[in-house]
Amino acid sequence: MAHRPTLLLLHGFPLDRTLWDGQVQALSGVAKVIAPDLRGFGNDQRPVPDVLTMEALAADIKDLLDDRGIERAVLCGLSMGGYVALAFLHLWPERVAGLVLANTRGNRDDIHGRAARQRMAEDVHSKGMAVIARGMVPNLLSEAFRKERPDEVARIEAMIATQAPHTAAAAALGMRIRPGRLDVLAEVDFPVLVITGDQDALMGLDSSMALSAAAPQSTLHIIPGAGHLSNVEQPEAFNAAIIGYLKELQDPPPDREP
Ligand code: MLT
Repeated sequence: MAHRPTLLLLHGFPLDRTLWDGQVQALSGVAKVIAPDLRGFGNDQRPVPDVLTMEALAADIKDLLDDRGIERAVLCGLSMGGYVALAFLHLWPERVAGLVLANTRGNRDDIHGRAARQRMAEDVHSKGMAVIARGMVPNLLSEAFRKERPDEVARIEAMIATQAPHTAAAAALGMRIRPGRLDVLAEVDFPVLVITGDQDALMGLDSSMALSAAAPQSTLHIIPGAGHLSNVEQPEAFNAAIIGYLKELQDPPPDREP
C-alpha cells in the first residue's frame, strides 16, 4: 500500500459520524479518512426498514466505496461499527485492505442479549431517546472520564438523544439477529488490529481476545483506563495505535512479509 490508504470509520450504536471528531482531522495526514453516518443515523435521511441488518449497513458502505471509485479501504469499526465491518468482510473480502476492530466482538447475542435488544427496540419509542441516552452513558464512558469530562459526557448524551427512535429500534433488531462472525477472520491474510479499553463496561476483554485469536495475524491493543468509547476517551492513544497499524500495513515487519 504505497499510497495514502482510505480509512473508513464506522460508528457505534446509537451514535453518528461525530463519534469520530477526534480522529477525522488527526488521522488525515496518514489516510484519506471517511466517517459516514450509517443509514438513518445523524444527518442521514435514507429510508430505514423495521429491521436494519448489519449486512444492509455493510451494503451501504460498499455503495459508498463504489460511488467514490475506491477499490479497497481499511475499515475501522467501533462496537456496532465492528459488526458492520465484519459483515462487510464476510460479503466483500476483496474490498478490505485492513481491519481495525475497536471495543467490539465477533460472537452473536445469546438469549439474554436478544431479549435486551427487543426491550431496547420498544424502549426507544415508549421512553424516548433522551431517557435512553441518560441510561446508556454510564456504560459507554468510564467513571473517571465522566468525572473529568462533563463536556464530552454532554456531547455523547446529546448525540444519542437526537437519533431517530425508528433507526435505533431497527438497528437494535438488526444487531439481535446478527450471526457470529469470528470465522471470517480466519481467512484474512493481512494484520488485524483489535483495540479495547480495560474499563469497557459493555465488551469484556474476552471478546477482544477472541477477535484477536481468530485472526492469523493480529495485535491486541488495550488502552489503560479507557471505557467503551475508547476513541473519545483517549483519542491520542487510539490514533497512535491506528497510525502504527497503517504503517505496519504499508511496511510489514520482516517476519510478516509475504
Ligand atoms: C455499540 O456501542 O455500538 C453497542 O453497544 C453495540 C451493542 O450494543 O452490541
